[in-house]
Amino acid sequence: MLKPRLSLLLALFIGAATSALAQVRATSPDGRNQVSVEVREGKLYYSVQRDGRPLFTPSLLGFEFRGAPPLRDGLRITDSTRQTVDETWTQPWGEVARVRDHHNELKLSVVETAAPSRQFSVTFRVFDDGVGFRYEFPAQANLGDFVITDELTEFALVDDARAWWIPSNRPRLDRSEMLYSSSPVSRLDSVQTPLTLETTDGRTFIVIHEANLVDYARLFLNGPREQNRTLRAALAPWADGSKVRGRTPFVTPWRTIQLADRVTDLAPSLLGLKLNPPSVIQNTSWIKPMKYVGIWWGMHINTMTWSSGPKHGATTANTKRYIDFAAANGLGGVLVEGWNVGWDGDWIQNRNAFSFTRPYPDYDIAELARYARDKGVKIIVHNETSGGLENYERQMDSAFALYQSLGLDAIKSGYVTDFVGQGDSHYGQYMVRHHRHVIEKAAQYGIMLDVHEPIHDTGERRTYPNMMSREGARGQEYNAWSGEGGNPPEHETILFFTRLLTGPMDFTPGVFDILIERGTGRPRRPDEPRIRTTLAKQLALYIAIYSPVQMAADLPENYENQPAFQFIRDVAVDWDTTRVLQGKIGDYVVVARRERGGPSWFIGAITDEQARTFDVPLSFLTPGRRYVAEIYADGPGANWLTNPLPVAISRRPVTSLTRLRLVLARGGGQAIRIRPAR
Ligand code: NOJ
Ligand code: CA
Repeated sequence: MLKPRLSLLLALFIGAATSALAQVRATSPDGRNQVSVEVREGKLYYSVQRDGRPLFTPSLLGFEFRGAPPLRDGLRITDSTRQTVDETWTQPWGEVARVRDHHNELKLSVVETAAPSRQFSVTFRVFDDGVGFRYEFPAQANLGDFVITDELTEFALVDDARAWWIPSNRPRLDRSEMLYSSSPVSRLDSVQTPLTLETTDGRTFIVIHEANLVDYARLFLNGPREQNRTLRAALAPWADGSKVRGRTPFVTPWRTIQLADRVTDLAPSLLGLKLNPPSVIQNTSWIKPMKYVGIWWGMHINTMTWSSGPKHGATTANTKRYIDFAAANGLGGVLVEGWNVGWDGDWIQNRNAFSFTRPYPDYDIAELARYARDKGVKIIVHNETSGGLENYERQMDSAFALYQSLGLDAIKSGYVTDFVGQGDSHYGQYMVRHHRHVIEKAAQYGIMLDVHEPIHDTGERRTYPNMMSREGARGQEYNAWSGEGGNPPEHETILFFTRLLTGPMDFTPGVFDILIERGTGRPRRPDEPRIRTTLAKQLALYIAIYSPVQMAADLPENYENQPAFQFIRDVAVDWDTTRVLQGKIGDYVVVARRERGGPSWFIGAITDEQARTFDVPLSFLTPGRRYVAEIYADGPGANWLTNPLPVAISRRPVTSLTRLRLVLARGGGQAIRIRPAR
């Protein structure tokens, strides 16, 4: 590991006549990205340039407080320090094994020239792939306990760039499970981050997000109020409308601006990891990526229930069947939902009825833990909270201790609700604190986490590698029951360049019963929801959508006599290298990944409703080595709408000199495993 190189402290331009303070600048190590900070008429602004081209014009920095004047006016920069960091580390698991953090940092101390003369600092880190900045309030006489009512941070875009967005202000405000739209930034109202933007000349891709959200409210963006292109930070509220409660010393999350010349350079996105502290878990050997099946899809297609009764899914016998299936197919885990008391009646309303220790009488938790352990399979314990945080927090120690005593070290949690606490936002500081508390507790009990209805990923996995995956977007489940009939064919090609840039997603790919007819035992009406992909695309999603816990989502019986299931058995879930070969937001993605600790590569290609052909040079393979490509392509006549099932499986020898031609059907995909020839 390289030691951080600390450069000289640099006191800049601090003079008595500070009204004439020049701009302070910091540049990325490659010299291409530049941040300038300046005070104009007492207000503090930052701007961002790339290759000398302005991307963000002067954008305001500051805060509003309850019971105190805004921290915005009469500001003066009193000091600045700089340092350069260059260090590389290995992630315990991930899209890539090695991450290099190389940046130049500029930290500015700022004071109010008039009373109450509060002080704060803003730290900028400028990387080759973007910029991060955060505020810090030191302990001081006139700023102790505080309530932030508004963060004034602006993102004043120069260009009317095209944005891909989901709203943050719908009646059901507190969800991220929506379809994306795209429009020029000047038309945006209120949107969630990450917000991906493409400049009108196509020369620059920009992603606005945040990193290291620990004790603050989640960031949204409000659109331009007038006819301009300025986005403003908007924070998820407490029930009383306030945003953040704190006490100095205090530090905010990082606001991040990822920059890339080509859309394919956006992923893998590592900026967020670089802006989180290193792992606090010393021994990570128990944290293991895995594939899993689950007592799950049956509930979503209505052939099983979470609740007790004749269709109860989580019975001892049924769980053993799933464990046997996982063991026979080399899948590491079995998710069991509906095992615990609390599901009967309206489980969203009855949020406080859930017990996290008491199984239903037909679920023998100890016997199943033993049975699974003997077969080398992990049971993933489901904890649906329905947003009943207090109910969950009260039981957490006893529940986690029970799981630990039974050797159960993986939890899938859930927060199906629109608000929490006393009417606090599902994404507010109360919820942020809760999630951090759960992550820490889970780490303490040696438990891995997969969180549904989470707060967006801000790079927690660097500090807590037991925080493995999360949902936080429309996943496969919408194909079982959503009003629109399922996710449209373009959905995952947008997710790849938006939500997935923040981190892993438990999308749950791999449904083979595309029309949901075999599972339900009846023909599907055309107006009913279904999977709007081909079967081959379901396979390609294992590569296109990164997650260290990757589900084979369908009913085990739907994998029987399916040669294509071999791909799910073979596909890796942990990667050394990731390369996006081709892509266009909302149209297609072709991505190649090399498995961690092995020589095999996997390629996933997905398209929207259009058929496409890709020419893929395999120049990333080791020169001189002979490989075999195992190809799962859309079969003859396949298309998502009328003929989704045909898959053509073939094999061919390949080397680094081979060019593969990938032919994808409408709504189709292709999955390829490239392994060394034997
Ligand atoms: C929503 C989750 O996304 C889904 O996976 C789960 O089955 C249900 N909630 C019930 O907890
Ligand atoms: Ca969900």
